Amino acid sequence: MRRNHCIGFIFLSLTVWSVVTYFLFLQRPLGTRFSEREAAVQQRLKELEQGVRQQSADSEQLVRQLQRTVHQRQQLAVADAVKRRVEDAEADQLTDEEKLQQEKVRQLRARAGQRLAGGAPVLAVLVFACNRVTVSKCLDQLLRYRPSAQQFPIVVSQDCAHQPTAGAIAAYGDRVFHIQQPDQSEIVVLPKEKKFKGYYKISRHYGWALNQTFFNFNFDTVIIVEDDLDVSPDLFEYFLGTYALLQRDPTLWCVSAWNDNGKVGLVDEGAPEMLHRTDFFPGLGWMLRRAVWEELAPKWPAAYWDDWIRQPEQRRGRACIRPELSRTRTFGKVGVSNGHFYEKHLKFIKLNEKFVPFTQMNLTYLLKDNYDQQFVKWVYESPVVTYQELKSGSVAHEGPVRIPYHTNDMYKRTAKMLGLMDDFRSGVPRTGYRGVVSFMYKGRRVFLAPNANWKGYDPGWS
Ligand SMILES: *[C@@H]1O[C@H](CO)[C@@H](O)[C@H](O)[C@H]1NC(C)=O
Ligand SMILES: *[C@@H]1O[C@H](CO)[C@@H](O)[C@H](O)[C@H]1NC(C)=O
Repeated sequence: MRRNHCIGFIFLSLTVWSVVTYFLFLQRPLGTRFSEREAAVQQRLKELEQGVRQQSADSEQLVRQLQRTVHQRQQLAVADAVKRRVEDAEADQLTDEEKLQQEKVRQLRARAGQRLAGGAPVLAVLVFACNRVTVSKCLDQLLRYRPSAQQFPIVVSQDCAHQPTAGAIAAYGDRVFHIQQPDQSEIVVLPKEKKFKGYYKISRHYGWALNQTFFNFNFDTVIIVEDDLDVSPDLFEYFLGTYALLQRDPTLWCVSAWNDNGKVGLVDEGAPEMLHRTDFFPGLGWMLRRAVWEELAPKWPAAYWDDWIRQPEQRRGRACIRPELSRTRTFGKVGVSNGHFYEKHLKFIKLNEKFVPFTQMNLTYLLKDNYDQQFVKWVYESPVVTYQELKSGSVAHEGPVRIPYHTNDMYKRTAKMLGLMDDFRSGVPRTGYRGVVSFMYKGRRVFLAPNANWKGYDPGWS
């Protein structure tokens, strides 16, 4: 009974479903529309599916990329860690002193690359020392007159490994940067050169220390000072004021603080602001730029660097600025230079004492084009006198006068009588410019001068 009931129910249900479905289709004439919609839905579904597939492919690629990046990063991190460990190991092997030195070099390089307010230049001061503890006298003065530690970092380069001198320099602590020329090997020289060995050491020291200052510490401009120099209160102002000339005028290759004929009586003490051009490289407190050092460094000589630098191959027609009143003076050398020269000449050099505000002054008159024209006019418009007339005070004329010279001997004789330096280097007399030596005599400006049609120096004059 139950079974029949059940079959009857199913049959009934199917019938009802068929009828309902039939009527539903009849009632809603949507047959074609429905299949269109279905197709659109299908299409959309397909697109979605494709989209999802694409996205998943993209994601996979992204994941793979990320994995690769992470892997590379890990490798780099490992490499870094290894490198650090190697450096640490190296640093461990350095003494504390060496580490300190490395740190100082880093600071010095930062200083060299620094831009100061208003584009003011940083000028390194390189002091050469060897075995004289009196270097402290020079350093005391530099530190006293230095207007800015930031603008004028002081590097003291010491040769000779002389302990008392090293101690004297170390006493300045962080105020100066102390470096030591490492090559203390004996220099082999010809027997006849034995007594001049000091000049070989000086040249080696200069070559090394200037390389350090320009190529390792990266300074662009250096003021070179030796350990036996007294300096003038306006030494820094002088170099700062003339810096622009050195930068601007390619016919200048140095600014020197020294007047070779700067003895009392030969200079105009009332004109501390007076500057000149000279074809004679004076040295003794001078400013040099990197471009010139790049030229000189590869051919730097084994000895006698100052006379070498004065040769035409090195000078190439260039001049230096020099002051009327020296901004440096040697306080006496015991060592390579002979003491006789000091007693006879160097100790009478007049050191300027007045502060001249060079940075506030218009110094463009020293540029070659401006200077030469004025200079030639000044010299050759001056009346000619003889040494005898000058000496006896019988010159009626008030202004500057000129004493001509035509030969090597004539120059030397006259210079000696006037108390001037009478030597030549590569044919150039000391302080000479276009062959002319300008100085004071009995309160009057005098030019010891060749003919106006002068054609250049004769390197044979000595
Ligand atoms: C200084 O550097 C120049 C150029 O790099 C080089 O030729 C010369 O040998 C160096 N001199 C010294 C003393 O190291
Ligand atoms: C500096 O002096 C020169 C003459 O030597 C002049 O021509 C120039 O105008 C001056 N410059 C300034 C800024 O005064």
